[in-house]
Amino acid sequence: MCGIVGAVSQRDITGVLIKGLQRLEYRGYDSAGIAVVAADHGFERRRTQGKVKNLDELIRAQPLSGQCGVAHTRWATHGVPSEKNAHPHRCNEITLVHNGIIENFESLRKKQLELGHEFDSETDTEVIVHAIDDEYKKSKDLLTSVQKTVESLQGAYALGVLEKGNNNHMVAVRKGSPLVIGIGNNEHFIASDVFALLGEAEHFIYLEDGDVADMTHDSVTIYNESGQPVERKINQTTLQADTVGLGEYDHYMQKEIFEQAAVLKHTLEGRIENGRILTSCFGEAAEEAFKSIQEVQIVACGTSFHAGLVAKYWFESVAGLPCHIEVASEFRYRPHIVKSNTLFVTISQSGETADTLAALQASSELGYAHTLAICNVPESSLVRESEWSLMTKAGPEIGVASTKAFTTQLTALLLLVVSLGKYHAIDEKTHIEIVRQLEVLPEKVAEVLRLEPEIIEFSKKFNDKHNALFLGRGEQYPVAMEGALKLKEISYIHAEAYPAGELKHGPLALVDDQMPVVAVAPNNDLLEKLKSNLQEVQARGGELFVFADVHATFEETEGLEIIRVSEISEIIAPIIYTVPLQLLAYHVALLKGTDVDQPRNLAKSVTVE
Ligand code: M6R
Repeated sequence: MCGIVGAVSQRDITGVLIKGLQRLEYRGYDSAGIAVVAADHGFERRRTQGKVKNLDELIRAQPLSGQCGVAHTRWATHGVPSEKNAHPHRCNEITLVHNGIIENFESLRKKQLELGHEFDSETDTEVIVHAIDDEYKKSKDLLTSVQKTVESLQGAYALGVLEKGNNNHMVAVRKGSPLVIGIGNNEHFIASDVFALLGEAEHFIYLEDGDVADMTHDSVTIYNESGQPVERKINQTTLQADTVGLGEYDHYMQKEIFEQAAVLKHTLEGRIENGRILTSCFGEAAEEAFKSIQEVQIVACGTSFHAGLVAKYWFESVAGLPCHIEVASEFRYRPHIVKSNTLFVTISQSGETADTLAALQASSELGYAHTLAICNVPESSLVRESEWSLMTKAGPEIGVASTKAFTTQLTALLLLVVSLGKYHAIDEKTHIEIVRQLEVLPEKVAEVLRLEPEIIEFSKKFNDKHNALFLGRGEQYPVAMEGALKLKEISYIHAEAYPAGELKHGPLALVDDQMPVVAVAPNNDLLEKLKSNLQEVQARGGELFVFADVHATFEETEGLEIIRVSEISEIIAPIIYTVPLQLLAYHVALLKGTDVDQPRNLAKSVTVE
């Protein structure tokens, strides 16, 4: 992960770099640092452990300025979060920032130690700066030194590299980790994403894998992996800097939970006409190609994987299409039997998750008929590398715990289920009924958000607990998984989800009065079975917290507390029942006083394997 930002300009760029880091902090917040080529042409560097605000305070106390600089916010992989492991790293004439992992760093480090290099940090990154310095001693040319060095690196890296004595030169590299070039007014920038540079640049170049960019304030030359100069497209961004504020909310997660009714509406806008879903929203030629799809393979991570699990139920029980799903980190490490006419679907909020991207890249050799990305970031690598895409229009999601991304992913997936299913088990009547349910979805979400006061009462029962179980059946099982993930991510309470019928096969042994059990209970065919499973919990002294349909005929008794959810159609129930679980996790985290938006050890965008 990690976020990098850099600039080569004719003005002081310290403020731009710090602002960029603040916007990139979702990528990691273990330490932060900045280096500039100073007026006397030496390097000035400041580094701190912890969040970017610590770096900002340090710079206020010990100011620095320069026209050419790089900065970094870290998510630790090799070496603990500390000042000495914070980037930028330097060696003699060279300073750099790195996002990614160098897999062969141990062998490189051994050789460099033999050559007499001294290591100041425990990071894998430091081998890069020593290697570039070795090359620089020979050629005295930064571009050549970087190009030579990357030949010896294995792994993923985005780099911003500066040389001492030159405040009008930066070399940037992208291989497996995201990097964009921002084109400003007589100045150039690099960053891990476009957001970091909004307000400074409107036009961006998305570097391709293996590209090396040689930059001054008024020129950019890009070389491909073979060292040939290449032209890359310049894109104008549609993103707005003002969409990333907190507004009236205390936390981004809270804001993002409450935005859901509005963003679900956006996700549906322009995609439905005359009561039917427009297949053209998936891209040119999708309508024709969709007719031939016989199977679906979904690949994703974390919350996005949970969205895919719900979609599997929809594909198989509503659309009549076989659907396979696997976590991206496992997908590419085993052989696959790919049937002809299988659609390969990736789901990702960020579109930069390294495992998901790698799975997409592997899919091209495996013989999938077509690739489709369901993603929230139009400029992301996943979207650019997929044949088709459908954007979830959730707007920027800043809280590390994914909320609105999940419900918009489910909405987008439902559009896909119908668009493929109409050539299989979905008849005209079912199509129209699902669209009708999608259209009422935003108001149903607004309604369930009004349960917040009751959910706050529930949350008080979790504050002193160390474990929790989440139960659901059918397509509500992935909803329970998502509820458990939210709780553990932000409150650090250990939480597990089970299909309720599985309890008696082992987990029931965990149930006692210290183990709150949360269940989602819409009024569906499995309700009576679920009730029996919950009685098994109650009989063993477990404390139950149930989100149940108003007509589910649950009685509140000792050890069974209920929040009643208004009647909704089964097809949209997974989306609706997710929302109270998000609110529960949020309020438990508030009571526990954790860092809701930036929970420990995590980062928003997981760009390393
Ligand atoms: O950006 P992506 O959707 O690809 O991210 C996948 C996961 O890293 C992400 O969903 C993660 O599990 C969230 N922190 C969950 O809240």
